[in-house]
Amino acid sequence: MTEEPAIEAIGLTKQYGSFTAISNVSLRVEKGDYMGLLGPNGAGKSTTLKVMTGLILPTSGTVKIEGVDIKNHRKAMAHVGCVIETPEPYPSWTPAEMLEYVGRIYGLDSREIAIRSRDVLEIMKMWEWRDKSVGGFSKGMRQRVVLAQALLPNPRTIILDEPTSGLDPRGMIEVRQALSAMKSKDRSLLISTHILKEVSELCGSVTMIRDGRVMASGHVSELINGVGGSRSVMLNIRSRRPFTPDIVRDIGGCSGVVSVDCAGECEVHVKFSGTSEEQEHLVGLVYSSGLGIMSVSEKGADLESLYMELTKGDDVR
Ligand SMILES: Nc1ncnc2c1ncn2[C@@H]1O[C@H](COP(=O)(O)OP(=O)(O)O)[C@@H](O)[C@H]1O
Ligand SMILES: [Mg+2]
Repeated sequence: MTEEPAIEAIGLTKQYGSFTAISNVSLRVEKGDYMGLLGPNGAGKSTTLKVMTGLILPTSGTVKIEGVDIKNHRKAMAHVGCVIETPEPYPSWTPAEMLEYVGRIYGLDSREIAIRSRDVLEIMKMWEWRDKSVGGFSKGMRQRVVLAQALLPNPRTIILDEPTSGLDPRGMIEVRQALSAMKSKDRSLLISTHILKEVSELCGSVTMIRDGRVMASGHVSELINGVGGSRSVMLNIRSRRPFTPDIVRDIGGCSGVVSVDCAGECEVHVKFSGTSEEQEHLVGLVYSSGLGIMSVSEKGADLESLYMELTKGDDVR
């Protein structure tokens, strides 16, 4: 039997009157995987996550958590921790009191609450602040307390809506580090963000969403290599003698070459997306140019190139 994915959305559509906020959104988060739900403001990220956590009902479509339909809400959500809107904790409460409160809701006894509180506050680097009022905390610190709350019941699956939004750069880095620190092989995470870097730093897979529709979904590495049906790489070529305009033009004319950028007289960066034969031809041409090639290094394309590829033409709309 194949293992049920941690989270599965199948054909989710949500309409507000005649406006379609999300349309036919499907995604699948495997157990132990971190998935980023990436898209610009208004793309439909919050709507998707609200439907996926049962906060709102979809117009159509199905959500399953570890194989259990979200319609069976209590059972499906039993091992899910989520933070959807940014909740504002009571300013006079301390992190210890907030966690005690959540622990009681989950029916934990005092000993268990004490042990787990220490665990989650240490992961979130908030242990030394446990007895201070949250009212005096920075936004990033408050966010980490809220994340500690979500983690307290030790959920296997975590769903977070833009947890670094509105934080200053230091707050963002600290929250990302905290999210990274809670990684474990049997914990899965679905996190929405509009920041590409957040996905590349934290996530093994990604669902890119725009105008309520999924543009791409799957493992980051597979998606990157799959753009245009062939793999996409950057070739950085360094030579002893300067590149002449003729040679730059010849490189640009090779099939599979997407673009050529001169990074100084003796270095060019070639974006290449073609077959192995085409790459062999290109490298052969460069070596036979008489420039005294010192190195040809290859760097895999990144998430940024994939995003640019998928949103091509947006700038001229
Ligand atoms: N309750 C609502 N009623 C009407 N339109 C909504 C409602 N909630 C969200 N929308 C619209 O749906 C679209 C997607 O919103 P949202 O899911 O919040 O995007 P994101 O979280 O990616 O910024 C936006 O155009 C937004 O204005
Ligand atoms: Mg949102």
